Amino acid sequence: MSNCNMQEAKICVAIDGPSGAGKSTIARLVAKELGFLYVDTGAMYRALTLEALKSGVNLNDEQRMIKLAQESKITLGFDQNNFLRVLVKGEDVTDKIRQPEVSRYVSYAARLPKVREYMVSQQRQMAKQGRVVMEGRDIGTVVLPNAEVKIFLTANQFTRASRRQMQLAKENVYVDLEQLNQEIATRDYLDSSRITAPLVLAQDAEVIDGSSLSIEQVVELIVKKVKSYGKHSFR
Ligand code: DC
Repeated sequence: MSNCNMQEAKICVAIDGPSGAGKSTIARLVAKELGFLYVDTGAMYRALTLEALKSGVNLNDEQRMIKLAQESKITLGFDQNNFLRVLVKGEDVTDKIRQPEVSRYVSYAARLPKVREYMVSQQRQMAKQGRVVMEGRDIGTVVLPNAEVKIFLTANQFTRASRRQMQLAKENVYVDLEQLNQEIATRDYLDSSRITAPLVLAQDAEVIDGSSLSIEQVVELIVKKVKSYGKHSFR
């Protein structure tokens, strides 16, 4: 169960939503603005998927996948510009986990209940002290059900595919828009229909549709919401 509660400095912000809604960028900026820790939980499932693809572990083999998750020693760190770095056994895999092949297979790793159990325990550990912005699919529902602020960030599918295309282009990865549209639709389906911890709207989450809002506008909305939560000071 989440350790987040009403005490000062124990505020947790949960941001969930479908692929490509801008969660990572927005969560990182919100965390920076508030001086909170930023945790990208999708990066953990991606790192595990990368390891499985590299070592030839079958993504449907739950026993081997859980063993791989434990052995991989996935850690999240930050560089001097406060950008997230993802490490597997000390090796920096930040760029590799964004490769299209990882995106294509990650939903298979993320649907394994025992793998999720392991990841969730790691994520709760990271949120133990509060002052965290955690983003994913099941943060407000499963990982931190007591999070003080819960946001469900979404955008229409076309917007999400176009944004993902631009983001990948910046990383010199060029993918056809129609292909991205298809991949996003497939991932939405897999993430929302899986049995364990599917992507669903937490009852007490605020929905933000970012289709026609700028990143700055969404960040401002969330920061305001966090700041208006009680009489806390954040720095
Ligand atoms: O946010 P992302 O695209 O990096 O997430 C990668 C995959 O991991 C995506 O298919 C959903 C899954 N995921 C999940 O099941 N639970 C989370 N808390 C975070 C991500």
